[in-house]
Amino acid sequence: MLQTNKALKTDALGAPPAVKNRSVLDWVAGIAGLTKPDRIVWADGSKEEYDRLCDEMVAAGTLRRLNPAKRPDSYLAWSDPGDVARVEDRTFICSEHQSDAGPTNHWIAPAEMRRTLDGLFDGCMSGRTMYVIPFSMGPLGSPIAQIGIELSDSPYVVTNMRLMTRMGAAVWDVLGTDGEFVPCVHSAGMPRAAGGKDVPWPCNKTKYIVHFPESREIWSFGSGYGGNALLGKKCFALRIASAMGRNAAQDDGQGWLAEHMLILGVTSPEGRNYHVAAAFPSACGKTNFAMLIPPKGMEGWKVTTIGDDIAWIKPGKDGRLYAINPEAGYFGVAPGTNDKSNYNCMASLRSGVIFTNVALTDDGDVWWEGMSEPPAHLMDWQGRDWTPANGKAGRKAAHPNARFTVAATQNPVIDPQWDDPEGVAIDAFIFGGRRSTTVPLVTQARDWGEGVYMAATMGSETTAAAAGKQGVVRRDPFAMLPFCGYNMSDYFAHWLNLGARMQSAGAKLPPIFCVNWFRTDANGKFVWPGFGENMRVLKWMLQRVDGHGSGEEHVFGVSPGYGDLTWDGMAFTESQYTTITSIDPAQWREEFKLHDQLFAKLKAGLPQELLATRRSLEAKLDKQPG
Ligand code: OXD
Ligand code: MN
Repeated sequence: MLQTNKALKTDALGAPPAVKNRSVLDWVAGIAGLTKPDRIVWADGSKEEYDRLCDEMVAAGTLRRLNPAKRPDSYLAWSDPGDVARVEDRTFICSEHQSDAGPTNHWIAPAEMRRTLDGLFDGCMSGRTMYVIPFSMGPLGSPIAQIGIELSDSPYVVTNMRLMTRMGAAVWDVLGTDGEFVPCVHSAGMPRAAGGKDVPWPCNKTKYIVHFPESREIWSFGSGYGGNALLGKKCFALRIASAMGRNAAQDDGQGWLAEHMLILGVTSPEGRNYHVAAAFPSACGKTNFAMLIPPKGMEGWKVTTIGDDIAWIKPGKDGRLYAINPEAGYFGVAPGTNDKSNYNCMASLRSGVIFTNVALTDDGDVWWEGMSEPPAHLMDWQGRDWTPANGKAGRKAAHPNARFTVAATQNPVIDPQWDDPEGVAIDAFIFGGRRSTTVPLVTQARDWGEGVYMAATMGSETTAAAAGKQGVVRRDPFAMLPFCGYNMSDYFAHWLNLGARMQSAGAKLPPIFCVNWFRTDANGKFVWPGFGENMRVLKWMLQRVDGHGSGEEHVFGVSPGYGDLTWDGMAFTESQYTTITSIDPAQWREEFKLHDQLFAKLKAGLPQELLATRRSLEAKLDKQPG
């Protein structure tokens, strides 16, 4: 941990009596000595505190209160135009050895990074308040949960953390005198001159999102936005936690998993209950899948949400894998969300929301592209007048990465077990990317090793907004490329080892499925309607879980034939089905070359088992005609 000899005396910190943990007090004193805030506030997580901070931010121009008749208890923030998304190129994994960060992460030697941070954080909170934000990732006291404490000079962070995590005074009791926590230090990086006027959205052009996996620290400088600043989410629950889960294997031989996965519950018309964890890269509709409404013809099925973004998964004593959602809220992309695409999400957003970078309507409500017909006039996310003519000319009213922050309890289809400290037993894993060609609608891997291969080689086509070039496939293993806090090859090995160890102890592992909702026809149009209709594919997977779904085995595993899916209430022809399920050997030969490029990059430490799976799949392909 960063040491400073400028530490304040701990009795000058104003800590509430419930804080009995010496290392918390010493750490807060050390960081306050370094960052030199004007005052320290210990957040208690109450609604009164939340309301007070929101009032202060309204007065400061950071938040705008939305019309309470339209959107009760809700606010809108417009960020600095230079601070609108996660900054992957400024994200660092500072392990002692570069090889432990691996070729997919940015690495800087810890000593060098600490010198940089020491300089950046020196006095960075002067003129500001430093908030001490205690939070639990996962239900308080759950055997799978972990505690973090974020020190931040941003009241926007405090209020968002209250919606996104179990935040507040109760955490001090769980922490006790010697409990462990992940220390998270955040600063917008804009000290305030005495008496000087503040800006609505403090931030700094220089940005660093830094993780020290060995000492489990997070340091974030220069951004107030989303995953850069709400450090419980990507930084802790994925990057640090993935390394913690792998390291735990060194102690208990098994470890656990921190995954970029939604968790959903499904109840069949007969009342049988299942839980599924699914990984998709960013911008592939995870929130929609997590809140799916079964389509016409599948009445009686019900989907409930446990999480929309992150899952922590631990082997239980009964040989099953148990998952919790470490978060307690959703930080979702607003554009594209509407009553048709995700009714439950829209219902979650009726009150108690912090919106960021969406447009403001003349009657004090919010609007974004894809919500409805555009109103005649809006204020866009930069506070400029906007009319549909601007939209036609290509100027968006909401930023494409505009977000909502809302507590999970607002979700009308929240799963009754979402807060269960024991988690839920996972029945199946799903991996999916956005591919216009090559990858069929759904395939069940024949075994754990083939499933890990599918997940490791997962790819997604970049959208025009993301990369400037449409249709380029970015490999995104397990949808974890920007979120794995250690060497990706070691991560593959951890998945393989965990499965092998559980299996040798007699466990029946959940089957692994690979899906692709995004195949297109000759005109580039999506063939599969997606959204609620994905329930048809989910039902087939659950039949497979129960061992009675019929399917056809092919090179890559088992897929349903046309007659194996339920088509009640949906017109979808066998020839349309063929368009999205066909396997073209020539395309797959090209695909394997791309897998090879990934494996070449990850060569150091790549499990031989993956290469063996690659050879066996290719041998099967070679036996195909064409
Ligand atoms: C997210 C992401 O914000 O995956 O959840 O980018
Ligand atoms: Mn995500």
